[in-house]
Amino acid sequence: MRVVTTRDELARARGDLGTVGFVPTMGYLHDGHLSLVRAARRANDSVVVSIFVNPTQFDPGEDLDSYPRDLDRDLAMLEAEGVDLVWTPRVEDVYPPGSSTRVTVGGVTDVLEGARRPGHFDGVATVCTILFRAVRPTRAYFGQKDAQQTVVIRRLVRDLALGLEVCVEPIRREPDGLAMSSRNTYLSTAERAVAPVLHRALLAAQEAYAAGHRQASDLLEAAHAVLATEPAVAVEYVSLADPDTLAELDEVDPGRGPLVSLAARLGRTRLIDSLVLAPTAADLRDSSRSSGQNPKICDPREPAPADADLG
Ligand code: PAF
Repeated sequence: MRVVTTRDELARARGDLGTVGFVPTMGYLHDGHLSLVRAARRANDSVVVSIFVNPTQFDPGEDLDSYPRDLDRDLAMLEAEGVDLVWTPRVEDVYPPGSSTRVTVGGVTDVLEGARRPGHFDGVATVCTILFRAVRPTRAYFGQKDAQQTVVIRRLVRDLALGLEVCVEPIRREPDGLAMSSRNTYLSTAERAVAPVLHRALLAAQEAYAAGHRQASDLLEAAHAVLATEPAVAVEYVSLADPDTLAELDEVDPGRGPLVSLAARLGRTRLIDSLVLAPTAADLRDSSRSSGQNPKICDPREPAPADADLG
């Protein structure tokens, strides 16, 4: 495994790696990241990973300085996965001095996380554009955990014709349902015990849907009722939205694979989670409905189940 820092070193090492599966990360890797690496490994000749805590996607007052970092541990994990090349740029390798260009993806960044973290998705879109241009991947891999980010990246790649395939892999969860995240490390023992309530709230919406409810208000109420059982959880939003436009829905159209997402604070830690409502048996019988709901899986040899979130 080669580890490079500058763009020139990257360009030389990138050379002829054949088809490249690229996993951009901010480090402090967990099994969710490794599932992206494994998906990239299965479908490409080579795997390239970047580790870069991107300052432009942190709003003032967010956790840029305290974001967890452990490069040695990350590199050992990637080596064990057979990764070919790791890019660990410094800030100046990504943003040359005087750099002032920002990439803005309109519309889908105005809601949900974008509405609460102004500038966040400009930072994500800008760094991903730079990383994609430097790495020149065949495919890039993202986790469904950051559901809105996947919508933004798909739109970015399509609008700017960046010439790569965006692959989205299912959320990886701890045994108690908590979605894996580098930020889980911030949770105190007591908060960690409470945190799986986010997943239980999503499952409550899913259960209400499976029971035949189609009004967004019913599904959201089911999720809120579960969240309310844990007073330590400060809910920022629970949303039921179209999976492509992220427009809030009044009523579920099963053919559109609605996205239920939420954000909540537990003490000083902000957590997000989401779930794509799985079709019911009746939905599946209705072959006239096209399902846009499942994350696109780039590895045809190992398709994801209909809703891996429920696992
Ligand atoms: O999802 C992340 O870890 C980051 O937003 C990404 C895509 C690596 C860009 O910094």
